[in-house]
Amino acid sequence: MNTFNIVKQMDCLVGMNAMQAESVDLIITSPPYNLNKSYEKKTALEAYLFWQREIIQACERVLKPGGSIAYQVGSYVDDGKVYPLDCLLFATFIEFGFTPRNRIVWHFESGLHCKNRLSGRHETVLWFTKGDNYTFNLDSIRVPQKYPGKKHYKGDKKGELSGNPLGKNPGDVWIIPNVKHNHPEKTNHECQFPLDLIRPIIKALSHPNNLVLDPFMGSGTVAVAATQLNRKYIGFELLESYIKIIYERLSHVSN
Ligand SMILES: C[S@@+](CC[C@H](N)C(=O)[O-])C[C@H]1O[C@@H](n2cnc3c(N)ncnc32)[C@H](O)[C@@H]1O
Repeated sequence: MNTFNIVKQMDCLVGMNAMQAESVDLIITSPPYNLNKSYEKKTALEAYLFWQREIIQACERVLKPGGSIAYQVGSYVDDGKVYPLDCLLFATFIEFGFTPRNRIVWHFESGLHCKNRLSGRHETVLWFTKGDNYTFNLDSIRVPQKYPGKKHYKGDKKGELSGNPLGKNPGDVWIIPNVKHNHPEKTNHECQFPLDLIRPIIKALSHPNNLVLDPFMGSGTVAVAATQLNRKYIGFELLESYIKIIYERLSHVSN
């Protein structure tokens, strides 16, 4: 199986194992966090990590050399104990030969108010590449300079602009509202990530017409962003109710 612009209602391990090896340019996903959400069944942490290891191994097989994986996770919480999943999964990516590039902190300013610890206001995106010859279109995601007209005041470059006129590197802390009740992108999926988190990742880590895979599609945010940005997508999702949401969202996308 390797067609594109398809949404498959199936287990992503089965789906990925049926794909050609080294056939996708970019993987972006957010797996279940083992929190007993409506779409998952909480298991022992060891069992969850074993399953995640299988997923990461399958991702490595289908990713092209030079491709990237952006793995978006929060924390697993059990009986008041908080385990950041990026810490628990990092070594597994290294085990399968991935090269670490960034740990992007996604900071959102709202959420549940905790009583016995600080309220959680961030999750992360682990970015790894398969090898060193990877795509990174920095210019496509530059943000405005703080002082756009600032110039060198001495030396050979005196009078020239000191910052890149295309803007500055956005850095690795991104402040983006999460998709809660009044968010314009909100669907009936309870853990949707925002398009503003995904679009810069697609722009920076892939080219137009590249193939982007999301093994855990949920409401289809990655497929929507990929379509908007003229990339192809393929993805898996277990639940029919979410598949309907994905098709509904995709039916409104124009690129
Ligand atoms: C954290 S949500 C992803 C949300 C998504 N990023 C979005 O923006 O809507 C994880 C999704 O993975 C799905 N899922 C869980 N186990 C799966 C599996 N084995 N194969 C495919 N999808 C699965 C769940 O139904 C859920 O919709």
